[in-house]
Amino acid sequence: MNNDKHIYTIFGASGDLTRRKLIPALYSLYVQNLLPDKFIILGAARSPLSNEDFRNIMKESILNSNEIHDKSSAEEFLKHLYYIGLQYDNPNDYIQLKEYLEKLRSKFDIPGNTIFYLSTPPSLYKVIPVHLAAVGLNETDDGWKRLIIEKPFGFDLQSAIELKDLLLKDWKEEQIYRIDHYLGKETVQNVLVTRFSNGIFEPLWNRNYIHHIEVTAAENIGIENRGGYYDSIGALRDMIQNHLLQVVGLISMEPPSSLEPLSIRNEILKVFQSLRPLRREEVAKYAVRGQYISSVINNETVKGYREEKNIKPDSKTETFAAIKFYIDNWRWGGVPFYIRTGKRLPTRVTEVVIHFKPTPHFLFTRKNIQEACNKLILRIQPDEGMLLEIGIKTPGAGFEVQNIDLDFRYSELAHQRIPGAYERLLHDTIRGDNTLFARTGEVIEAWKFLTPILEEWSNNPNVPLYGYPAGTWGPKEADNLFDDENQTWHFPCRNLTNSNLYCEL
Ligand code: BG6
Repeated sequence: MNNDKHIYTIFGASGDLTRRKLIPALYSLYVQNLLPDKFIILGAARSPLSNEDFRNIMKESILNSNEIHDKSSAEEFLKHLYYIGLQYDNPNDYIQLKEYLEKLRSKFDIPGNTIFYLSTPPSLYKVIPVHLAAVGLNETDDGWKRLIIEKPFGFDLQSAIELKDLLLKDWKEEQIYRIDHYLGKETVQNVLVTRFSNGIFEPLWNRNYIHHIEVTAAENIGIENRGGYYDSIGALRDMIQNHLLQVVGLISMEPPSSLEPLSIRNEILKVFQSLRPLRREEVAKYAVRGQYISSVINNETVKGYREEKNIKPDSKTETFAAIKFYIDNWRWGGVPFYIRTGKRLPTRVTEVVIHFKPTPHFLFTRKNIQEACNKLILRIQPDEGMLLEIGIKTPGAGFEVQNIDLDFRYSELAHQRIPGAYERLLHDTIRGDNTLFARTGEVIEAWKFLTPILEEWSNNPNVPLYGYPAGTWGPKEADNLFDDENQTWHFPCRNLTNSNLYCEL
């Protein structure tokens, strides 16, 4: 690991992600003295901007960011920013880029260590790395070179394999960092700590004691201004192929032999390799899709998906997806996993719910399986924390049982700030730690697993696409994924609570 002097090059520097996430994250690292004493951030994009223009735009982004509290070093930080305009497909522009990098290096006494962050449309993942390699900017004789790629890595299995092959011609696997910002979330990493630092959970963490596992990532926003991107992608590719399957990987992996990146990533890969393949004819039983339709929320009419900007009026893109699947290995044989995600649901929440099996004999009266299972809720956002639901005796005559919550909230940890996901991941790209980045094999396995669903949904006109009113929990048909008619999805609120008495949406 290192924290070497380097140049952090961002392609797509005039775009939204750079402004909203990347520059605020790098600034935050700077304020905490987590960047080396010598570094340059070089923005690269098509717009013809001067260094001054670029600095001014990024200054705004820092000042407007509500993730940053100490803005007093903004001017100092901005002096490290430079900009170069280029056409991504013009080979000559990469010669100029190389010359500019060399000029900056000699001026500021920085060795060849360089990061290339592709914050660009995915079509450019096939273009920029090839051009960089053509001018030798992948070579490591004068310092390390790292390529950071945003999701989606490919559009389906075939395109992901092609992209992998193309990149691996010029770049080594360890030079490629595939960002999955969910892995940068503190609470997602806490899954590993919960499991492997507490002697009480691990013995129970298997098919003998766990009934089923749920992962929900709900958003109350719609697709905002991303119609052009989203309509060709949909919820399965946007959230499940990457973020949610990565969370499943951490929940279900075997204990790694060490905290070395390779041992953790090996274990996650094994989980992905054990996902039970679906046949196309089974898709209807294991996957449900939905699309939000117009409704009235808090007296305001909210548009349906098909009325949003840049969406085809007859679009069949799913804004909600729920799937049930199994991990066929020794630990998880027979335990169903249920995952769901959607836009325009009632609230923004991501959580994992581990439902433990009920006691083998009901000594006390319990209503149904849902209530009889102890639950461990790992709350990823918001109101980050954990909650364990257990039964206690209701005071008074007889043996009435009621469920109560033992909970912990990160907000209770005084003076401990939760760093943003990009902050953590960008720091790791500088330190050369790729533990929290998706590896080629994982991405390919994830695509392989989802291929039958993707094919069935796009090619079979008989697969229903259920409409759900904006602001509701998606189509009720998603409940049919459960075998037991008494089972339903856990009902998550904005706040970490399992009680129906207090739930903020
Ligand atoms: C992105 C998706 O990767 O994750 C978005 O493209 C989604 O559609 C976002 O809104 C959710 O991230 P978070 O951190 O807000 O849960």
